[in-house]
Amino acid sequence: MNKRRFDAITIFPDYFAPLDLSLIGKAKKSGLIEIGIQDLRSYVTDNHKTVDDTPYGGGAGMVMLPEPWGLAIDESAQQSAAPVHDLIVLTPAGQRFTQALAEKFLDSEHIIFANGRYEGIDIRVTDYYKTQPNFRVHEISIGDYVLGGGEVATLVIMEAIIRLIPGVIGNPESLTEESHTLKSEDGSLVEYPNYTKPPVWRGLEVPDVLMSGNHRLINEWRHSQALRRTEELRRLTGE
Ligand code: 6GU
Repeated sequence: MNKRRFDAITIFPDYFAPLDLSLIGKAKKSGLIEIGIQDLRSYVTDNHKTVDDTPYGGGAGMVMLPEPWGLAIDESAQQSAAPVHDLIVLTPAGQRFTQALAEKFLDSEHIIFANGRYEGIDIRVTDYYKTQPNFRVHEISIGDYVLGGGEVATLVIMEAIIRLIPGVIGNPESLTEESHTLKSEDGSLVEYPNYTKPPVWRGLEVPDVLMSGNHRLINEWRHSQALRRTEELRRLTGE
C-alpha cells in the first residue's frame, strides 16, 4: 500500500496543532504518514467568508453550506493517489467509533475527516459522496455526548488509527500485549494494573507476586486482576 494520508477539513485549523506532538508528530516527521489540514474558509468565495446559513424549514442554529464542503473535499481527494477515499463525517448522530473500527480503517490509504460545527453540514454533502464510486462515506460519533464540533473527535480517531500503523510505536509488543488484555469490545478483558518503582509509595506496596520473578504466577495474578477490574467496570456501567 502507498503511504497513508489523513486530511482534516475544518474552520479551526489550529485545533490540529497537537498532531505535531508525540507519536503522531514523530510519524509525520519521519515521513511514515502524511497529514493535511484544510481551512474550509479558503473554499468560500464571498467577501464575508460565510460558511453557514439558516436551516430550510426553520429551527434553531445554523447549517453549514454544501458548496465550500464540496470544493474542499474534492481538493483533498486530489492530494492522494489512492483509488478510493474514506470520507468520515463527524456527527453525534453517527455510528459509534470503536477499536474494531480503528483496525478496519488501517486498510485505508486515504481518510478525509469532515469537521462540521453548528448544527452540522447540509446532508446533501453526505448524500452526494455516497453516490461517488471512488468514495466510501462513514458518519461517525465518538460517544454519547455532544461536542461543539468534530475536531476533537477527529483527533481521537486519528490517534487510535495511527498508533496501529506498523512502525509508529517503538515497541510493537505493547500492541500484541494489549490485544490479549484490552478486549472490552468483544466482551472480554480490560487491562491489569501496573506498578513501577519505588516498591513502597505513600505506604502502598507493590504486590509481592510481581517481585517474585515467577512468570507463571505473575501471569495468573494479572489475569485474575483483569477479571476483577472487568467485573467492576460492568457493575459501574451496567453492561
Ligand atoms: Cl463526531 N461530533 C460532535 N459534534 N459531537 C460528538 C461527536 C462528534 N461524537 C460524540 N459527540
